Amino acid sequence: MQLDDLYREVIVDHYNHPRNYGKPEKWDILVEGKNPVCGDEIKIYISVKDDIVSDVHFEGKGCSISIASASVMTESLIGKNLDEAKLALSDFNQILRGEACERCEELSDTAAFQGVTKFPVRIKCALLPWKTIESAINGNGKS
Ligand code: FES
Repeated sequence: MQLDDLYREVIVDHYNHPRNYGKPEKWDILVEGKNPVCGDEIKIYISVKDDIVSDVHFEGKGCSISIASASVMTESLIGKNLDEAKLALSDFNQILRGEACERCEELSDTAAFQGVTKFPVRIKCALLPWKTIESAINGNGKS
């Protein structure tokens, strides 16, 4: 199987079975984002305990790339401390800029988004959840 096919499968799987989807019973921070180009929207519910991202859930409507990206993002951030989460955000931005990312593991679900760089119009889709959560992770989230 080609790497591209494997990465495509990862994205399709996360779109069909989004992880951590839905409104949780409680959360600390809620952030909302919108892709102005298509109108797709996302809500992200974040819980932080002792500087650890203890939970991330999301809901919204979006294309396959944005939903899959949100799903991968929740799995990537849960359990990280805030500094590690900031690094994960910066790594994802790097991947979407098509740059080599030393910390990123090849074959990780996050790396599957490398292929999106071939479709510039979809980059905003992949970045929607990550850009939306940025302010919360950087300490400027609204409750
Ligand atoms: Fe709307 Fe992708 S088309 S986020």
